[in-house]
Amino acid sequence: MGSRREEGLLHQLGQQGRDTDLPDDADAARPQAALLEKHLLGGEKQPPSTGQGPVFYIGGTNGASVISSYCKSKGWQRTQDSQREDCKLKWCEVKCRDTYCRFREGEQLLFQLPNNQLLTTKIGLLRALREHARVVSRTSKPPPSTQAKILKMEEFFPETYRLDIRDEREAFFTLFDETQMWICKPTASNQGKGIFLVRNQEDVTALQAKTQSIEDAPTYRKMPPRAPQARVVQRYIKNPLLLDGKKFDVRSYLLIACATPYMVFFGHGYARLTLSLYDPCSSDLSGHLTNQFMQKKSPLYMLFKEDTVWSMEHLNRYINDKFCETKGLPRDWVFTTFTKRMQQIMAHCFLAVKSKLECKLGYFDLIGCDFLIDENFKVLRRCPRVVVG
Ligand SMILES: Nc1ncnc2c1ncn2[C@@H]1O[C@H](COP(=O)(O)OP(=O)(O)O)[C@@H](O)[C@H]1O
Ligand SMILES: [Mg+2]
Repeated sequence: MGSRREEGLLHQLGQQGRDTDLPDDADAARPQAALLEKHLLGGEKQPPSTGQGPVFYIGGTNGASVISSYCKSKGWQRTQDSQREDCKLKWCEVKCRDTYCRFREGEQLLFQLPNNQLLTTKIGLLRALREHARVVSRTSKPPPSTQAKILKMEEFFPETYRLDIRDEREAFFTLFDETQMWICKPTASNQGKGIFLVRNQEDVTALQAKTQSIEDAPTYRKMPPRAPQARVVQRYIKNPLLLDGKKFDVRSYLLIACATPYMVFFGHGYARLTLSLYDPCSSDLSGHLTNQFMQKKSPLYMLFKEDTVWSMEHLNRYINDKFCETKGLPRDWVFTTFTKRMQQIMAHCFLAVKSKLECKLGYFDLIGCDFLIDENFKVLRRCPRVVVG
């Protein structure tokens, strides 16, 4: 992620990050968030920017520059030593057991939540949403006034099947017909890596053969959970809303600022557009996958890269100009209806995993959430990941 957007993210989180706040009456025995702040900053006042402030550590590169420059602007000192006992903030791109064993609750801040894969992997989120739907359907019906607010998974999550569960993949192979298009994605990857489209019987037969041969292999049982089978197939949204003929999606952020009690914020991100015009029949994946990583593969990227990222203000102006009248949308649809919808979907996903997240005072997380809008302005949630970019 480029620094322009990193700055944008902090700005956005600072300016607008208080829209969806989901506090929870969590464990009263735990130290309070306010105490942590006091401990970290040495009282109410922040230290002057002398570089003599608290120590922080960043492991990895994703988001490193934005975190580092922000902390340094507050006078914090960066260390390269991950073992330093006096670290007040640890930002670790890769989760490792040692980090969590050494974590001192109430004294440190630690990015990320140890089991955030419940939210950040495709299978993790799918499982959580399905389970949540089962629980909701079992509980006695809420009063009609609240009923309207409970989202149904199928309203925002395209039909999806797991390929690592035999019955599910057989169900998919049986239901497939060539009038439909599907997208097959590895559970724990990102940037569009490992994704392909499934559009005809040949693709399905190849997929069937591949999954079967993996399962028949003698080493299959010893494979880690990231085995090639750990994939989903999802119904492809064939009619996305287009911006000047190009497909796009919207990246927004869920900040889990505090896990005890929960404080969760919404942050606006930006829109990501493809370089080429959208053609549902094209076999070129870069017109179907809006990830920047995919667009960067094009020789045209260096010339037109500015066109592949729009601010939310830009998107709002465009939708005001092009669609408000023709589609009968309220003015500033992006910042009103669409924003509320993203928040509602994010809150729903968070609530689906909340009780299972491992939380300690000082853990925090930033989850990138991607949304597609179809040509009828229906908002669909796709898959999440931990990121700053
Ligand atoms: N169901 C879908 N219908 C249409 N396009 C999709 C669908 N799911 C994903 N995409 C496209 O593929 C891209 C990558 O999908 P995503 O689920 O976000 O995987 P990754 O984690 O690899 O980014 C998205 O940015 C979007 O452009
Ligand atoms: Mg994505």
